[in-house]
Formats: sequence, C-alpha cells, structure tokens
Amino acid sequence: MNMSQPLVRGMPDTALDRARQIHRIKALLKKEDAVLVAHYYTDADLQALAEETGGYVSDSLDMARFGHDHPASTLVVAGVRFMGETAKILNPEKRVLMPTLDATCSLDEGCSAREFIPYCDAHPDRTVVVYANTSAEVKARADWVVTSSIAMQVVRHLTAQGQKILWAPDRHLGDYVRRETGADMLIWQGSCVVHEEFRREALLELKRRHPHADVLAHPESPASVLAEADMVGSTSAMIEAARTRTARSFIVATDHGILYKMRQAAPDKEFLEAPTGGHGATCKSCAHCPWMAMNSLTTLEQVLRHGKPEITIPEPVRAAALQSVERMLAFAADQRKPVLGLGNT
Ligand code: 13P
Ligand code: SF4
Repeated sequence: MNMSQPLVRGMPDTALDRARQIHRIKALLKKEDAVLVAHYYTDADLQALAEETGGYVSDSLDMARFGHDHPASTLVVAGVRFMGETAKILNPEKRVLMPTLDATCSLDEGCSAREFIPYCDAHPDRTVVVYANTSAEVKARADWVVTSSIAMQVVRHLTAQGQKILWAPDRHLGDYVRRETGADMLIWQGSCVVHEEFRREALLELKRRHPHADVLAHPESPASVLAEADMVGSTSAMIEAARTRTARSFIVATDHGILYKMRQAAPDKEFLEAPTGGHGATCKSCAHCPWMAMNSLTTLEQVLRHGKPEITIPEPVRAAALQSVERMLAFAADQRKPVLGLGNT
C-alpha cells in the first residue's frame, strides 16, 4: 500500500491517521519478529490488530499458552503487567514487551510479596494457590497458580487429596470456589476494582426491563451479583456461553472490552452491560479496567519502535514462579474436558 495516497477517497483525517498508524505497527511487528497477544479487555482496535496479524486474543490462561507455543522471538503483550510477567516466566529466552508497565491490577497491587510471604509462612499446613493476577514474587511463593478458567478444577483436585488451601488474592472468586466445592480455604481479602462495582439492585432492575436476557457474570463479581447470574465463568467461558446459549439477549457482568469478541461470536444477539454502582456517576471503573485502558495503538507503536518497556524478572524468582505456573499448565493439559466452564454454565 502506498501510504502517501489516501487509503479511501474522502476518508476523514482521523481515520486516515489511524489507518496509517496501524500500517506502521504491522510493519514494525514484522521487522521485530514480534507477535501481538491481547486480552479480551483491551480496546477493540488492539484486538482486531492482533487477529489481523496472526496474533491472538484470549483470556489470561490461553494468552500464556499461545505465547509459549508461538515461534516469534518477541511477544508483545497487550494487557496488564501480570500477563507480561507470566509470558516471561514461561519464555525466558524471548523478549517480552508491553505497551506500558504501569498497567497493573488491583488484585496484584493488594497482595504484595512483602505481606504475602510471611502470611504463607504462618500457615505451613496449607497448600498455597494464587490467582494469576499476582506478581512473579507472589507466584514464586505459591504451590499452584490458577486462572479463573481452571480454579474450580484445581481446588477440587486438591480437596480430593485432603489438602487445605490458602487462597489469594481475589476474595469473591475465592468465596465462589469455596461455595461450589466445599473446600477448606483461607482467603486473602483482595478484590477487582471493576467487578466489585457491579450492583445487584441495578442488575435486577435491568433484568425487569429485559426479562428474556440471560445474565453472564465473571466470578470476580460480588456473591449478590453471582446469585442472579444464569452462568458464571471465566472470560472465555462467557464468550462461549454467549455463542451457544439459546437466549437472544445477554446482560454481561465483566469489563465491557469483552463485547468486541462476544459480538463477533454471536453477531445476531444483543449484549447489554451490567450496571455498576451509581450508573456511571460515582463508579470508579464504569466496567472498564483502567489499567487495560492504558494499552493503545500509540503506546503499542512506541514500544515496538523503542524496544522498551521490556519485562525482566530476576532468574531465581522466575525459576520458582515457573514451577507453580507449569503445574497449572500440566493440570490443564490433563483435563479431559475443555478448560472453559467454571460453574453453572
Ligand atoms: P481471565 O483469566 O478470565 O482472562 O480474567 C482475567 C482478569 O483480569 C479478569 O478481571
Ligand atoms: Fe485486575 Fe480487575 Fe483489571 Fe482484571 S479487570 S486486570 S482483575 S483490575
């Protein structure tokens, strides 16, 4: 394509600038032998670019798997920091770039290794299971890492062996898994700023106006919201439910970035965002993760152009974290059923 010529006659300047930027990013991805791996919560622009360039859009577990299997020497992770760190834990020989390292996560921030390690040491009789939304240092102290797509199965497996669990950091997901499995779980009291804002009363009001809509909820949401859901599951499981369930309309309780993939999976169906506290007036996130939103075409172009920021992890931490991440991946590979459903799908 000759970029000195208008792409489409009459295309507005902003659309033309965007098309030129995408063209430059595609060229940089090739030049740098890089593949773009994006989370469902990132902007639709980034998800579309990942798909168009042979990259991948998925949940946190599958992002890790894809980056591990792909031959590119550079992984560009559009998501939040723990996703880039997981990619580096699994691929020390690869360069792992992120549009910004400031994209963190309230769960990760609320569970520092400085506080978490002594807490684990105080409970030596418990198997330490941490959610993937944690730092490499916290993963290094854990026995198991899990994502929302595999948490239930891992906890059932450990409980069947008579093990007691120390769970961190998300209290809502932890409570949900405990209710479903009856496991003995000591639960760290972290939460997600996005999911914590979904509200039962406002959800019931929306359900009254859309009585035929199914409610799909991510298990980081409060128990009062999960109790109203027709299906609870990981991001991938929610998209699959949108595609396969017979309902024509869905109320979606997770980050609204997921709607790009849901509409792609079920173009004839209607998707409504679950309401957050204050209907947007007082909510902090308004159903969009502020850290995921730091990923943009501009920050992506910058990281590809300058080769930084790059994820680095001290080798002893990486090696220790690798054991708990690999335990999860091996367990997931062993599961006969596809690793999607978390609960009452
Ligand atoms: P998934 O593991 O379902 O992708 O969720 C990650 C996340 O950060 C949810 O808020
Ligand atoms: Fe963390 Fe919540 Fe953002 Fe997911 S949506 S990355 S759990 S803050």
